[in-house]
Amino acid sequence: MPDKVEQLKLAVFVSGRGSNLAAILESEILKGIAEVILVVSDKSECKAFEIARNYKINYVSVCTGKKEGFLNYDELSELLKENCVNLIVLAGFLKMIPPELIKEYPERMINIHPALLPFFGGKGMFGFNVHKAVFESGMKVSGATVHFVNERYDEGLIIAQSAVDISNTVKAEEIASRVLEAEHKLLPKVIYDFALGKIKIINNRVFTN
Ligand code: GRF
Repeated sequence: MPDKVEQLKLAVFVSGRGSNLAAILESEILKGIAEVILVVSDKSECKAFEIARNYKINYVSVCTGKKEGFLNYDELSELLKENCVNLIVLAGFLKMIPPELIKEYPERMINIHPALLPFFGGKGMFGFNVHKAVFESGMKVSGATVHFVNERYDEGLIIAQSAVDISNTVKAEEIASRVLEAEHKLLPKVIYDFALGKIKIINNRVFTN
């Protein structure tokens, strides 16, 4: 293990499938470096919760306002603090995070997006919509982006990107699966670099070195 490592306690926010959550949990480079402490969803049940149960990780549902079985964001914030969470990873979380929570994790909240931002991001650009839009645009390259979270959808500083050649794809589904494969490598790598203190912001650009 490298000398200078910050032990990361992650909360992973999800809305559905949870394949990026699984990629983090299965990542060899993150073993002994990052532990998923909590899985958070805006749904009462989702596939990612099944993964959490299999790994015996606590999971909770969250919403703004009041709903049976759901925490509100103040309660969630308390829980994150109690668990000493020091990095929040949004991996397919479809709801906007309240600004108060974003402020509590300055440069410690990241999101993965399935396209090369700043293109094909923003409102409505989630899940398969993204790949369909990329396919219809005729672009020859797509990819995955990990960025810091700010108060606007997909607009925080870009940390890392992985480009995928889609020049010979004949349907959007193919783009989706190639990009997902890239995501599963990129997200654990960024978390790893984060733990090693390699990610720095200088003049509003993110450097990894
Ligand atoms: C991923 O494509 C991610 O980039 C996007 O939502 C999808 C989540 O997939 N934000 P999964 O739940 O991790 O399988």
